[in-house]
Amino acid sequence: MSSHVTQEAVKTIMDTFIQRTQGSGEWDARAKKSLPGGDTRAASYYTPYPAYMVHGEGCYLYDYDENKYIDFLNNYTSLIHGHAHPGTVSAVQEQVARGSVLGSAAQVTVQHAEMLRSRVPSLESVRYCNSGTEATHLAMRAARAFAGKDVIVKMDGGYHGSHDYVQVNVQPDIETDGLPRRKLTSRGVPAAVLDGVRVVPFNDLDALKDVLRARSDEIAAIILEPVLGSSGGVQPEPGYLQGVRQLADTYEVLLIFDEILTFRLDIGGLQSVYGVTPDLTTIAKFIGGGLPLGAFGGRKEIMAPFDPTHPQTIAHNGTFNGNNITMAAGLATMEDFGVEEVARINTLGQRLKDGFNRAFQAGGMKARASGLGSIIRIHWSDGEIKTARDAVAAQEAAGALPKLLHMEMMNRDVFCASRCQFSISTPMTEREIDMAIDVFGQTLEVVRPYMTEQTPHLLRE
Ligand SMILES: Cc1ncc(COP(=O)(O)O)c(C=O)c1O
Repeated sequence: MSSHVTQEAVKTIMDTFIQRTQGSGEWDARAKKSLPGGDTRAASYYTPYPAYMVHGEGCYLYDYDENKYIDFLNNYTSLIHGHAHPGTVSAVQEQVARGSVLGSAAQVTVQHAEMLRSRVPSLESVRYCNSGTEATHLAMRAARAFAGKDVIVKMDGGYHGSHDYVQVNVQPDIETDGLPRRKLTSRGVPAAVLDGVRVVPFNDLDALKDVLRARSDEIAAIILEPVLGSSGGVQPEPGYLQGVRQLADTYEVLLIFDEILTFRLDIGGLQSVYGVTPDLTTIAKFIGGGLPLGAFGGRKEIMAPFDPTHPQTIAHNGTFNGNNITMAAGLATMEDFGVEEVARINTLGQRLKDGFNRAFQAGGMKARASGLGSIIRIHWSDGEIKTARDAVAAQEAAGALPKLLHMEMMNRDVFCASRCQFSISTPMTEREIDMAIDVFGQTLEVVRPYMTEQTPHLLRE
């Protein structure tokens, strides 16, 4: 039971938010008449309602009620240059004036592919679609076609978008001791999907080996993010990714790296950082310059059946695949995101992480900022976070704390993902980072009454 003190702390945060965003509240009431929940994307929802952002410029966002926020959401990491980046805006304007999608092959698509391939040597051949979801869907299809086998191994807590074949253990199994049980994450997904998917914990080579040894005659590929993103930013232990590569080779299954989130962390993605070469890679988010885009590619012989003249083609269509506006926006965005920019925002990310950790220390709190480069997450524990299960169990034990933190930071003009993920964009400077660190420290003090009563395990004696 929550006490009067907790209820007051929560109420003050919520009331402040509602007071500041009255216009958004009115739009939310109107939206709910047309849209279930008032919106059209689960990840952008938070209670009592999401603020309506109406304008973005650089690293700042403005809501309907004219509150100004530093934007650490960056549309879930996909806006590398923040909002209305001049190079991207002119590329889109020039292209839209010449036609948005011309229903034919386009030079700009070739140039985009050349740019991607120059950065990621394992992308011998690449195809485009309109989202990360489609990219993993098609990479898995390509892997099955090449291997002549159907089953895909994924990680407990691994997120690869919203198509049916990855709606298995997106929420890690935190109830079972030992190996995770396979479970569909969404209603409406056919139960038969479970037959085509096996699940193992991240950072557990023994579990992966056991599954491959028992079923390599059925398994086409392993798909994983080099760092588990939506399950809390869980990093690979030294040697883990190399071990996965070796096991894939030993048991003759393909390795797919989902670098949709992680591609921003190094010019060649995390595969270049860890020195592990997958057979296929999926990329999305910022490579579309803020417009919808997904890419998948890898070894030439695996990708070859996407050539319509191939004797055994793989189906791949899409009315807006490689549309000129998106490709032009993506190319312009990538041109302005070179080695120096990657390093600069990664350094800002480190500064943010260090500042948040100082705030946790100063507040006597047993939590820490984690993450790599320009993406920072909060781990609600000072213990080891080795698997998605560890990260999510810690998050669940933190109760409403992440939500309160998110909302109170909004009350203080800092916008991040409601799961407390912060991503850096190139218009940010040390000034914005230090402002966010100050706000974080102030926010921790506001939520302290909640912690004292509801999550005392997160406070030092
Ligand atoms: C690792 C990963 N894979 C796939 C996806 C799905 O991408 P999209 O939202 O573009 O469909 C995401 C999106 O956040 C992601 O982080």
